[in-house]
Amino acid sequence: MNIITIDGPSGSGKGTLATKLAQYYQYHLLDSGAIYRLLGLSLAQQNLLTQLDGNISDAVNIATHLDIKFVPSMHGIQTYLNGEDVSKQIRSEEVGLFASKVAAIAPLRDALLARQRQFATSKGLVADGRDMGTVVFPQAQAKIYLTASAQSRAERRYKQLQGMGVDAKLSAILINIEERDRRDTQRVVAPLKPASDALIIDSSHLSIDDVFNQMRSYIDTQLI
Ligand code: DC
Repeated sequence: MNIITIDGPSGSGKGTLATKLAQYYQYHLLDSGAIYRLLGLSLAQQNLLTQLDGNISDAVNIATHLDIKFVPSMHGIQTYLNGEDVSKQIRSEEVGLFASKVAAIAPLRDALLARQRQFATSKGLVADGRDMGTVVFPQAQAKIYLTASAQSRAERRYKQLQGMGVDAKLSAILINIEERDRRDTQRVVAPLKPASDALIIDSSHLSIDDVFNQMRSYIDTQLI
């Protein structure tokens, strides 16, 4: 069974490319960031997020039995937590912050491992995240690390927000991205880094189609 992993910092275009590749190869898609977001939301709903530096056995239990569902629809993938559609909610900055707290705690990451690995079925898988090639699927046939300069990722986010009619400051977005990069790359557990056998692509000056084509030509040489 073929597994393609795509890791990299937020804003590098990973999500878009992972979706395109899954469609192209007709593989399942794992958006592992969504799982971290769902766990963050679930712990916040149960008032457990502020107690993560103490006894975390309740939180680990919730992570192990997290009731989540991903349902493909006309508008993308609908995401459910305990039967409730939380697709929009998990994309908020607030839930992103919850997710980054959860992501720094080793026992919670461990509790999510089995859940993520269940996505690998005979159909094939494109797995999008931070540690897909290094920790979750080290045996993957094709590993890609997609990055881009902080400046170009900030500009993309700025344009995206403008397009949505949201007032934003480019300098503030850049500071935010640099802070998040620092947290992601310097954390002790599963820090963001390329797998030693990953193809590294810098998308700063490339279009989505350029990146897609580069990925495809590499993946086609790796698949079994
Ligand atoms: O990609 P995202 O913004 O949806 O990820 C949400 C948070 O989860 C972010 O802080 C990074 C973290 N994450 C992680 O540590 N490992 C993954 N495989 C995926 C996401």
